[in-house]
Amino acid sequence: MKILVVGGGGREHAICWKLAQNPQVTGLWCAPGNGGIAEIAQCVDIAATDVDAMVAWAKENAMDFVVVAPDDPLALGMVDAMENAGIPAFGPSAEAAVIEASKIFSKDLMARYGIPSARCRVFEEMDPALEYVREQGAPIVVKADGLALGKGVVVAQSVEEAESAVRSMMADRKFGDAGTRVVIEECMTGPEVTVLAFCDGEHLSCMPSCQDHKRALDGNQGPNTGGMGAFSPSPNYTPEVAEECMRTIFLPTVAAMKAEGRPFRGVLYFGLMLTPDGPKVVEYNARFGDPECQVVLSLLDSDLLEIMQACRSGTLDQVDIRWRPEAACCLVLASGGYPGSYEKGYPISGLEQAGSSSVVFHAGTCRAEAGQILTNGGRVLGVTATGPTLAEAVDTAYAAAGCIEFQDMFFRRDIGRV
Ligand code: AMP
Ligand code: GLY
Repeated sequence: MKILVVGGGGREHAICWKLAQNPQVTGLWCAPGNGGIAEIAQCVDIAATDVDAMVAWAKENAMDFVVVAPDDPLALGMVDAMENAGIPAFGPSAEAAVIEASKIFSKDLMARYGIPSARCRVFEEMDPALEYVREQGAPIVVKADGLALGKGVVVAQSVEEAESAVRSMMADRKFGDAGTRVVIEECMTGPEVTVLAFCDGEHLSCMPSCQDHKRALDGNQGPNTGGMGAFSPSPNYTPEVAEECMRTIFLPTVAAMKAEGRPFRGVLYFGLMLTPDGPKVVEYNARFGDPECQVVLSLLDSDLLEIMQACRSGTLDQVDIRWRPEAACCLVLASGGYPGSYEKGYPISGLEQAGSSSVVFHAGTCRAEAGQILTNGGRVLGVTATGPTLAEAVDTAYAAAGCIEFQDMFFRRDIGRV
C-alpha cells in the first residue's frame, strides 16, 4: 500500500514511524516532512495547507490512503477533498473538524447536549466584552474563537490583564480573523488531563491518558508554547475518573456530533480539567496533539493503519486495540528564543547515541546536502522513551537528551516529574 502523511512535525514523524512498522506499507510519503521523517519516508515539497496541490499529487501518484494530521488542512476540508477525488483519507471532514476550529461551535454543542464545561459568553463587539470582564472580575479566561496555534487563550489573573487580552484580540487583531469573536469563560481549577480517542463516527476507543506541559520554562513559567513535553499515563486519571468521563463527556460528544450530522471520524482530543465539581472539557481538538501523539503511539502495540482504516469505514468496534501497560515520556528540545524568534540552521550532534535508548522524533529539522541534520524550527526534537514506570521513562528520556547538542538548545528539566 502507498500511504501519504500530511504534516511535518514530531507528531507526523511518530505517525510515519508507526505506519512504517506494517509490512503492507510498501511506500510511505510525507508532505512536507522534515529531516528525520526523510529517513523512513520520501518527503514531498508541498505545504500541508495546500489542499489542491496535495490532492493532485496524491492522485497522480496513486496513493491508497492519506493521513491528514494537522488542524489547518482538516479545517480546510482536505479529507473531504481527498475522498471526493476517490482517495481514502483518515481524519475528520471539515464539518466535523469545526469542533476544534471554532470554540463557539464547541461551546454551543456542549451547552445543548449537557456536556460539562466552563460557563461562558461569546462577544462580537469589544465594549460589551470589556464590560462583562469588569463585571465578572478575575481570574477569568479570554479565548479567540478560531485557530491561533494554541496561543489564543489568556488565563487572566487580573481584570487589567483580561481587558488587555480582549483589546489585543479584538482591536489589535493579534490573531487576525481568529479573534474577530471572543469567548470569555469562567476560570476552572484542578489538574488537567488529556485523553485522545479513535472515533469512527459512532464508536470510540480511548488511548492511554496523557498530560502535556504547555509553558516554555520549568515550574510552568514563561509563555505558552505548542507543548514542551508530554507523558503518559496521567496519575490523575483513575479508573473512576475514566468511567465518569466516558459517561458524561466522551460518549455524549460522539453522539452529539452524529446527531448534528457531523459524525466525527479520526482522532478526537479531549482536553479535560478535573474540577471539584467533576471532569469538565477545556477544549476539543480534531487531531492528535503534538507532543501527546509521540507518547501514546510509543505505547501502541496494535497496527495503526488497521485502526485508521476502521475509523474511516465505521468498524472500530471490530478492532482489538492493545496498549503496552507501560509509561512514556517525550521531552521537547527547542531552539533558544522559542516560542518567540529564534535562529535556524545549526548542526545537531548526538542523535545516533540518543537513539539507542529512546526514539528521537524530529519536529523542526532539515537535512543538509551532506546528510547533516540541522535545526529548522522552534521545537526541534522530541526525545521519547518508555519504561515500566513513569520515573524510569523520564530518566531514560533525560539521559538520551543529554547526548544531543545544538547551539542555544533548551528544554524543560521537569517534564513528567509529577
Ligand atoms: P486551550 O487552548 O483551550 O487548551 O487553553 C490552553 C490552556 O489554558 C489550557 O490547557 C488550560 O490550562 C487553560 N485554560 C483554558 N480554559 C480554561 C478555563 N476555563 N479555566 C482555567 N484554565 C483554562
Ligand atoms: N500539545 C497541544 C496540541 O497539540 O494542541
